[in-house]
Amino acid sequence: MPPLLQALSGHRPSTLPVWFMRQAGRSLPEYREIRQGTKMIESCLIPELAAEITLQPVRRHRVDAAIFFSDIMVPLRLAGVDVDIAPGIGPVIASPVRTASDVRALVEHELGDTAMITEAIRIITAELSTTPSGEADWTPLIGFAGAPFTLAAYLVEGRPSRDHLAARSLMLSDPDAWAALMEWCADLSGAFLTLQVDAGASAVQLFDSWAGSLPLADYAAHVAPWSRRALASVEGRVPRLHFGTGTGHLLEEMARGTDALGIDYRTPLDEAAARLPGVPLQGNIDPARLLSGWAALEAHAHDVIARGRSAVSHVVNLGHGVPPETDPTILTRLVETIHQA
Ligand code: CP3
Repeated sequence: MPPLLQALSGHRPSTLPVWFMRQAGRSLPEYREIRQGTKMIESCLIPELAAEITLQPVRRHRVDAAIFFSDIMVPLRLAGVDVDIAPGIGPVIASPVRTASDVRALVEHELGDTAMITEAIRIITAELSTTPSGEADWTPLIGFAGAPFTLAAYLVEGRPSRDHLAARSLMLSDPDAWAALMEWCADLSGAFLTLQVDAGASAVQLFDSWAGSLPLADYAAHVAPWSRRALASVEGRVPRLHFGTGTGHLLEEMARGTDALGIDYRTPLDEAAARLPGVPLQGNIDPARLLSGWAALEAHAHDVIARGRSAVSHVVNLGHGVPPETDPTILTRLVETIHQA
């Protein structure tokens, strides 16, 4: 079994598995080259292009997993929501969902044609199963989706926001509309995860980028049950990772209903392991350290590995995505260092 899948099921493989969130993307010159002239969401919908971008970092860095090149906004687009990813801004929703009647209109949308996703994953898994050495040490593909709260935050705010006041006030002022919105988002994410697993993904990650803006009580009451519903869609089929940023106060709640938990760079792994006995952990090299010289990065990576030994098992990753300005040769060297540790 590949090291990633061993670690996600609570075992300690002979080499530590490593992959990087946002490994496919702007840190790679071959990505910038191939993306020229194609908009972000459109490039996710062209199977050959999405497959090629997914495979670029695997060939270059020899990471232990591919992460499917897509975006948490893609299922919204496939469900007919008018969403775009504006360069330098991020996701923008043409008609934000602000009222109970906006929610009623939204939940009429259903996931449409998804054949291009299935086809992209077929191309990817075909290449990942045949290694250069011809051995059976294939590389798993990780599928993913946005968690219901992060999707809902974009739908309500209409664009990236720091404190998600519009979303959090809808949650508190109209709990029924909020529940209907979250149910729709959870089922959309669940359907997107299921589709990727059906097509050949070997693990999934649910990204809750904005959950950290919530107090624990609101997260537990109004958000966590919907994330668990999305995660439950592939329970028992593949290992499930759950990840959010700024979620140090939510870790116990986020660990319920998942197989493994991603930890951001703010919480040391030994501290997370003490709070979450028996839970496989992923993380948590500080992305800023990628930009601060090799010696400091190497020492930090060894510290992360040492702290990760307190967990039942450990998948090395960053504590958030690869910054676009990262020198890709540093990432390759980091993978070699982790594999030798
Ligand atoms: O290697 C990978 O992780 C590739 C797949 C991937 C992308 N987005 C590609 C992408 C994944 C897993 C995501 C998840 C995603 N998308 C999240 C959750 C993770 C996180 O970072 O917190 C969120 C919140 C989004 C929404 C989104 N899409 C944002 C905020 C942005 C950045 C906007 C900008 O221009 O700064 C995007 C765009 C995006 N998604 C890019 C990539 C490679 C960059 C766009 C480009 O290259 O033109």
